[in-house]
Amino acid sequence: MAYVDVLLSCGNCDKTLKIKKDCTFEEFRKNVKSIFPHLPKDFTISDGDFSELLEDNFHVLKNSRLETWCLVRGSTDESFKLDKPHSELMRYDVHPNALTQSGNYHFSASYQAFAEFIDNSIQATSMNNTKDMDRVIEVHVFLKDNLLVVFDNGEGMTYEGLKAFATYFLSQADRGLEREEVDLTPGYLDGAISKFGVGATQAGFYLGDRIKVITKKDECPFVTEITISKEKLQQRAKEGKPVFEDYRWIRNPGDTSTLAPGEETRCLEDIIKGEAAYPQFTMIVISGIRDFHIDSIREDGGHTLARELAHVYHFYLFGERGRSGNMKLPTLGNSKVPPDFGMSSFLKVDIKLVIEDGRNSNQKKTFNLRDVDDDIESLYQTRAKDWFTFSLTMKVPNQDAHQTVQVANFKKHFYFIRSHE
Ligand SMILES: Nc1ncnc2c1ncn2[C@@H]1O[C@H](COP(=O)(O)OP(=O)(O)O)[C@@H](O)[C@H]1O
Ligand SMILES: [Mg+2]
Repeated sequence: MAYVDVLLSCGNCDKTLKIKKDCTFEEFRKNVKSIFPHLPKDFTISDGDFSELLEDNFHVLKNSRLETWCLVRGSTDESFKLDKPHSELMRYDVHPNALTQSGNYHFSASYQAFAEFIDNSIQATSMNNTKDMDRVIEVHVFLKDNLLVVFDNGEGMTYEGLKAFATYFLSQADRGLEREEVDLTPGYLDGAISKFGVGATQAGFYLGDRIKVITKKDECPFVTEITISKEKLQQRAKEGKPVFEDYRWIRNPGDTSTLAPGEETRCLEDIIKGEAAYPQFTMIVISGIRDFHIDSIREDGGHTLARELAHVYHFYLFGERGRSGNMKLPTLGNSKVPPDFGMSSFLKVDIKLVIEDGRNSNQKKTFNLRDVDDDIESLYQTRAKDWFTFSLTMKVPNQDAHQTVQVANFKKHFYFIRSHE
């Protein structure tokens, strides 16, 4: 049973009453009277806004406050001059819209939000080579059920990882996650690419209404999962309950009993049953995908999305020399890293995009992003007459070291500006 602490001041006497949420106004007045027995029968109680507490507004105090200060007087004519300052604890929360709506300002196209998850998957699989495991990333889009899954066979998440996933942060620097060696290797291949990302949860709520994370670590026999739902966050905010909390489920691999009936079960049952094949993995499931994302994918069967993602991840798909094998990316002048560092341990990433129409089970289209050859990066490389490589070094606020942005990023813009280059 939850309580509200009512801090009562009567003259220069202060007392605290703990009232239960089911306490009636009459009981409350009785308690006040027993603490201050000298009060006349028709004494008044007003809060810090000088609003008199009455039968019909008492519930507001009980339901929306943690603690409240009240002035008790024998009658409304009595002085309201305070003997000293008083205080009451106010609780305020981040409104869930900060989390669920901010993606609308960060993203202007579906593929950018998909990229947030693929970035995370690339990062999570960056140590797979040490376990002799390929790097598998699969994006499944179920058009008819407005659901998508981003699967990777990366390191998975513990309790703390899930908490980090769910927490609304702005950057990895905020999380204290930045790795020292990050800026020593070419930024596009070190695997730590999501450090300037705006975050998976914001991307998830830009795409849809619910984000379910299903994950397993190699060293743990259990699969764990959490679901963050826009409706539930908003409901809890409306009811004045703590907003940012959810249950983490712990289950056996292959156990489908935590799936919600309907689209989750239809789309995920087979995937969950196949979990046992992977010693470690993470699946981000987004349901309630907004129609405009689905419509734009359906329009050309996913080809544009595949092309955009193939462009973004070109160097992860092909390695530092790109599809053409001609790319000569510069080594950093100030780099402490041997020129071939990273490539020896670099493992290309397999990224697949699977579009399932869902109207009948064999209407499935798979794009292996390495086979997409009309993405802008590939076109640029196959049509380029010459290379103009450069990097840009700049000071990022709050970071001591200067950051070097690699040529790959800038070439893209160059391409756009002079599309016939
Ligand atoms: N696919 C994944 N596998 C393992 N951990 C992940 C995955 N996606 C997200 N995480 C964890 O959740 C955290 C938050 O992700 P995100 O919101 O994208 O922010 P950032 O990538 O900037 O840290 C990551 O730092 C990581 O610890
Ligand atoms: Mg990220």
